[in-house]
Amino acid sequence: MKVFICSLFISIFSYSLFAQPFVDRAIATATFQTQLMAENMADGLKIPRTIKKDGNIGIISKITDWTVGFYPGSLWLLYDLTKDSKWEVYARAWTSRLEELRHFTGHHDVGFMIGCSYGNGYRLTGDESYKDIIIDAADALCTRFNPTVGCIKSWNFKDPEIFRVIIDNMMNLELLFMAQVLTGDKKYGEIAVDHANTTMKNHFRDDFSSYHLVEYSSSTGKVINRKTVQGYADESAWSRGQAWALYGYTMCYRFTSDKKYLSQAEKVAAFILNNENMPEDKVMFWDFDAPKIPDEPRDVSATAIAASALLELSKYSDKNSKVYFDTAETMLKSLTKAPYLADIGENHNFILTNSVGSLPHNGEVSVPLNYADYYFIEALTRYINY
Ligand code: GLY
Repeated sequence: MKVFICSLFISIFSYSLFAQPFVDRAIATATFQTQLMAENMADGLKIPRTIKKDGNIGIISKITDWTVGFYPGSLWLLYDLTKDSKWEVYARAWTSRLEELRHFTGHHDVGFMIGCSYGNGYRLTGDESYKDIIIDAADALCTRFNPTVGCIKSWNFKDPEIFRVIIDNMMNLELLFMAQVLTGDKKYGEIAVDHANTTMKNHFRDDFSSYHLVEYSSSTGKVINRKTVQGYADESAWSRGQAWALYGYTMCYRFTSDKKYLSQAEKVAAFILNNENMPEDKVMFWDFDAPKIPDEPRDVSATAIAASALLELSKYSDKNSKVYFDTAETMLKSLTKAPYLADIGENHNFILTNSVGSLPHNGEVSVPLNYADYYFIEALTRYINY
């Protein structure tokens, strides 16, 4: 414990030269908790996901779990943030557990799984062996693209005629853009752009809120249904879905410089920021249309994703740069205190509490989630480097 307390103060001292007090606290908690987590998970390189209903830590048991890349990714992000080589050692160890996923074609989330782990690793170290894994994984993701639909299939379905695409899938496009940069092969970017364009056409309502799931006909590409799986209702705005859309179109603009993606991201941002159910502290409820607001769970994961996206969008936007930055700052400040920030050594060593996985399934409600922690560290890094 003494070593931790000492490194906590070194961390606070070194960052307080330029940071606001909440940043010191956020970095100290993120580094402290993640270090403790790494020590507890080291035997077998276990990958934490959440806290279960019985109060025990939820360890990922299947390597194909969509959240498997976030803990290795958090280790890379802390290496980026602190430049302390111990994080690289941890990150390499946990990342290596995912190598078998390089040829995984079972669902769309390979973008999250490989992008957060090997993608960050390659960005920070230039390790050539990581590059090959990223390209293999992008090839695997491309096998799920249907040119008639113009999308990558999210989830398989018993009836192969039903082609299911969720808004979350926008996030997987980053792996394809990465592969295009690494290989110079335009096919990756073409698939990503097709998917982004089809989703822009079919996933959004007039107010630029997003449906969660669109079902297409595999053979004709026509829309069959628009529904939710994790939101309150088919016509509601599930908060994490809105955050994925915001992040996804901002990221598409980063790679393509196509203004239509910037404009889409700004419209999604307007929906989120101007929503009457956005609380003053900017920590979103789990669904903007949840019926008992304000007595509904908040979703810290959606908030962390949106904070990170807004910080990037604020760099690109002429009109609303300040409002995006200020909102992201409020989100980060709110997340860096009770009840959302963990006390050191508590919360099974996750950084944040109070995320919602899937409320309609009574799954992971008001608990920590590894992806909330990942996007919180990313947002914090973006804020510090702004
Ligand atoms: N991509 C799954 C989720 O956001 O819960």
